[in-house]
Amino acid sequence: MTKEQARLELARLAAFLGRANTAYHGEDAPEISDADYDAAKRRNSEIETRFPDLKRDDSPSEQVGATPGEGFGKISHVVPMLSLGNAFEDEDVADFDDRIRRYLNLHATDALRFTAEPKIDGLSLSLRYEGGQLVYAATRGDGDTGENVTENAKTISDIPQVLEGAPDVIEVRGEVYMSHADFEALNTRIREKNVALEADGKKPQTVFANPRNAAAGSLRQLDPTVTRDRPLHFFAYAWGDLSAPLGETQMGAIERLAALGFVTNDLTKLCDGPEALIAHYRDIEAQRASLGYDIDGVVYKVDDLGLQARLGFRSTTPRWAVAHKFPAELAWTRLEGIDIQVGRTGALSPVARLQPVTVGGVVVSNATLHNEDYIAGRDSKGAEIRDGKDIRVGDWVQVYRAGDVIPKVADVDLKKRAEDAVPYVFPELCPECQSPAVREEGDAVRYCTGGLICPAQAIEKLKHFVARKALDVEGLGAKQIEMFFEDEQLPIKTPADIFTLADRDGANLTRLKNRKGFKDKSVANLFAAIEAKREIAFGRLLFGLGIRHVGETAAKDLAQHFLSWDKLAEAAEIARPAALAWRAADAAEDVERIAAAKEGRRGRIKEARDAAAAACEVSRDSQLAWDDLTGIDGIGAAVALSLTDAFANVQERAEIDRLVGMLTIEAPEAVATESPVAGKTVVFTGKLEKMTRDEAKVRAEALGAKVSGSVSGKTDILVAGPGAGSKAKKAADLGVTTIDEDGWLELIEGL
Ligand code: IVH
Repeated sequence: MTKEQARLELARLAAFLGRANTAYHGEDAPEISDADYDAAKRRNSEIETRFPDLKRDDSPSEQVGATPGEGFGKISHVVPMLSLGNAFEDEDVADFDDRIRRYLNLHATDALRFTAEPKIDGLSLSLRYEGGQLVYAATRGDGDTGENVTENAKTISDIPQVLEGAPDVIEVRGEVYMSHADFEALNTRIREKNVALEADGKKPQTVFANPRNAAAGSLRQLDPTVTRDRPLHFFAYAWGDLSAPLGETQMGAIERLAALGFVTNDLTKLCDGPEALIAHYRDIEAQRASLGYDIDGVVYKVDDLGLQARLGFRSTTPRWAVAHKFPAELAWTRLEGIDIQVGRTGALSPVARLQPVTVGGVVVSNATLHNEDYIAGRDSKGAEIRDGKDIRVGDWVQVYRAGDVIPKVADVDLKKRAEDAVPYVFPELCPECQSPAVREEGDAVRYCTGGLICPAQAIEKLKHFVARKALDVEGLGAKQIEMFFEDEQLPIKTPADIFTLADRDGANLTRLKNRKGFKDKSVANLFAAIEAKREIAFGRLLFGLGIRHVGETAAKDLAQHFLSWDKLAEAAEIARPAALAWRAADAAEDVERIAAAKEGRRGRIKEARDAAAAACEVSRDSQLAWDDLTGIDGIGAAVALSLTDAFANVQERAEIDRLVGMLTIEAPEAVATESPVAGKTVVFTGKLEKMTRDEAKVRAEALGAKVSGSVSGKTDILVAGPGAGSKAKKAADLGVTTIDEDGWLELIEGL
């Protein structure tokens, strides 16, 4: 690029990004995708780094984020910010080590080292540097998209704004926190100011409940001068996007971050196995009170970054790390009432209304009671929990809170029970629509049978449908859904109603425009946003339908497998009789198990299953469709069953078809089209020696292959290790290409 070309390109990018910023922040109506925005921004920074003297006065790299008053801009993370799996007991730590060894096929005597470091109780932040300059700071948000808090991050002295000798692109991640001393001082200052405010008859400012809230409240200040007055700190412990590796080990990478000028935690220690990890955990636990900042556990990470890469991630957590939490905090209080909430799937969940109590610095007034058995003092298999003590309204109960999870009612004090306390009777009618609420054999949860006539279900389904990971319409969130659901003129009662809203309002959209809280521009924006979502990714749509058990990952897996909506619908229909046979067989198995237990004999489980299934007369096609469905990795019988339930339910199916008729569904792209196995259906069988089944599966999927558990006419490749049995024979009968593990590794070599 010549200097002249660079100058012109910088001018073009400044205009382009300026327009995008106005559309995004000023008008709340983005014109380009976050990815395109980020790419333009990156290109701008790259050119500025190469030609520093051409940097414009109105350079877009100086204008990260919204100016105060506009709210924070959004930033989509190049590498998602994930959370961590939890360990509570010492055995969980041994399991963590075991799981990793199994996944990697390591022998018990092979070395496997970990780092152990405090889990800081603050909020995570991602700092992106390009060419050594801090480009932006983003909060975690939902893991995919966070808030742009660059100006505020720049006021934190632990955060360098310039790096020397760093990779060209580096995202440093860590935790923003407030020390105990600063937290106390801040609250004292607020209390002092409140005296003056109250004297003036003005509204006092609330004091912060704990250092974490204080840190979050301070970082998310729209006015950076307020943040500057709040003493925040930052520990670096991880990274995101990188143009060059930071080292070969976790410890090495952390040392590199320290050398670059970041503050790293000096309690980070290299440990050679579970015993050493637990010893360091006890050591940190003993120092907890005197550290001067809040921690809620110890994080263990596989030290070898090559092994971290092989282990990779589950949908939201890495396989190579775990958070070993400190024991939960407990408090006693009065149970004032039990409310029943009805969720989107119709599940009735009991919620404890408590006399407010502080548990580990946080005021708790609601807690979960799990389900009806839990209240009665039984687990789902009928065995006693809490020594069989039930929970009654008015009881003195113990509340348990571990980190950021929902508080639970853990125990009850019978000595304090009132004499007239009555056992809690779980409703058998839905409290929202009075339809029967039923509980299936073996299921811990009671479900409302009202379907869409149940307002609670309908509204929760709608909220789920418009959620960020589903339809994601700018300007149509939970709040607006609640408003439209109750609206008499322009109601939205089902997902399809969203797409008929504009037509129902008529050409001039007058009814909506006259509504409180809507201006001409916001009505136009809303309809533009809805129209833009008529094209929707297969997986998003399927997830958005809110079918029980069909979460984001299952929806993606199904989309990847069927590629077209019609094929999925057809498969769900054809598989239906086999699905019902499976359910009948499962019920028969339960009956036989219970009968056998009562009669003190061994159960004839297989016979019971087979007899029940045989009574259902399932065609070969139906059985094949069911096998294909449940053969998709990650799709178990529970997912497959509720999928066929949803497509077979006349009312629900009519809704789905009406909705689908209004949309253009985008088929998922094969993950890696370059690879020779992309789009191929692969089955692994027999013993694999160089990798485990799990690792092989994850690798194959990353290369765009579909991994199935059973051989059928659709199988392209069977990878058969020693001991392959019936699957190898079936593959031979069907003429499926069969290779061994080495053949497979050769095929994917270098990818
Ligand atoms: S590592 C890919 N290390 O805990 C996982 N996280 O529960 C990267 N946290 O969102 C996270 N201290 O906000 C890591 N030493 C530490 C941490 C830590 C606190 C937070 C972080 C994360 C959450 C997960």
